Amino acid sequence: MQPLRIAVAGLGTVGSGVVRLLHEQADILAARAGRPLQVVAVGARNRRKQRKIPLGRARWEGEVLDLATASDVDVVVEVIGGSEGAASELVHAAIAAGKHVVTANKALLAHQGADLARRAERAGVALAFEAAVAGGIPVLKALREGLAGNRFSRVYGILNGTCNYILSEMRATGRGFDEVLAEAQAHGYAEADPSFDIDGIDAAHKLAILAGVAFNCAVNFKAVHVEGIRHVSAADITFANELGFRIKLLALASVGANGLEQRVHPCLVPIDTPIAHVDGVFNAVVSEGDFVGRNVFEGRGAGAGPTASAVVADLVDIAAGRRAWAFGVPARDLARLPAAPMRDHVGRCYIRLQVKDRPGVIADLTAILRDEKISIESMLQHGRAVGDEGVPVVLVSHEAREAAMSRALSRIGRLRAVIEPPRMIRIESL
Ligand code: NAP
Ligand code: HSE
Repeated sequence: MQPLRIAVAGLGTVGSGVVRLLHEQADILAARAGRPLQVVAVGARNRRKQRKIPLGRARWEGEVLDLATASDVDVVVEVIGGSEGAASELVHAAIAAGKHVVTANKALLAHQGADLARRAERAGVALAFEAAVAGGIPVLKALREGLAGNRFSRVYGILNGTCNYILSEMRATGRGFDEVLAEAQAHGYAEADPSFDIDGIDAAHKLAILAGVAFNCAVNFKAVHVEGIRHVSAADITFANELGFRIKLLALASVGANGLEQRVHPCLVPIDTPIAHVDGVFNAVVSEGDFVGRNVFEGRGAGAGPTASAVVADLVDIAAGRRAWAFGVPARDLARLPAAPMRDHVGRCYIRLQVKDRPGVIADLTAILRDEKISIESMLQHGRAVGDEGVPVVLVSHEAREAAMSRALSRIGRLRAVIEPPRMIRIESL
């Protein structure tokens, strides 16, 4: 059998992992694909970098864009990254040249997913991106193929390994944010620009793609409500624990009467839910289908090995001639779902305030909440403040509309006795 001839563009964490996996598992891959998978060419920015990967006889392509048109290449693996520039040009050129494309690039897919799917279909080539969502968990294939008999009402999960690693380590060890982030970067989990991780953008990219596959709709990244974990403090982690919750950066997509709601933000999740115990670099995705019910997928969400595992699974499908619509249906049939406005979201909230410890403060806070018809489920205050330094007060609300909560918090933040901006974290019952 003719081998599948692969070009790998990008030899960083993921590209190196892909080359290593293809080399070390060559026998089992050939058996499963029905033919060998062979790396014929590679490219990256700096040829002189020491990479310590088994490149065999693969040639170095000085200009990665040339991999798109090389006559000895069947499939281009794009693991450079970024929604524009070299990665985008390469993927467009490869599709135009009739090459299959496998990519781990969620930023690219989040911005251009429907367009690229349409172009790939027109060109008769595969566009595969299992590694773009939840690292080593084959969740796109599971939703698109294994669960094809279901309509989904909701998909949600932990989609960023770096944030989950930071939140888990901060809770378990009490170490600071910056120190744990540096460790995640050293493990190869973080994006080239780690603000994509900690500001929730990476999880939002993945959510938009996941929603596209689950709901067979055009990826709509701009409609995702995004908040990151910068404002989650050690105090929040401690209070959450006391209240019976863990703090997780969740990504949630659901379809309701208002349309498609997509949101990424820190959440308090009850300690007795499975997702509360997904720690470290692990990701988890939960899907709710009408016939199958709830499925929970868990595994490593970042790093060389898990991501390479997903990239190579796509290569095996291509080598074996298996093809699925990128987003579950032909690109021309992708739905354009209206975006459900976040102001209409209804849920419970945790609110942490730093207030001056004097009579009437709680009355002022609760009066504002009463005006917005927000009812309080519980309140915590520990200790007494010395002088004007303030004391933390934590309120847990019953279900409230987002618009009312944000009006209330903005008024509360203006009270003289409130000495720091209020911190609000939504509570998900799951
Ligand atoms: P990385 O370690 O920074 O590697 C990027 C690679 O791309 C490097 O080899 C770099 O070359 C090369 N490169 C950058 N700009 C280039 C250009 N203009 N022309 C040619 N080559 C260029 O990144 P990574 O972590 O492997 O991530 C790659 C992709 O996978 C990204 O889309 C990322 O979001 C995605 N992803 C990453 C993970 C993960 O755990 N890391 C997981 C899932 C998906 P040099 O080596 O010469 O500098
Ligand atoms: N930076 C990403 C994360 C890599 O931490 O989840 C995996 O997509």
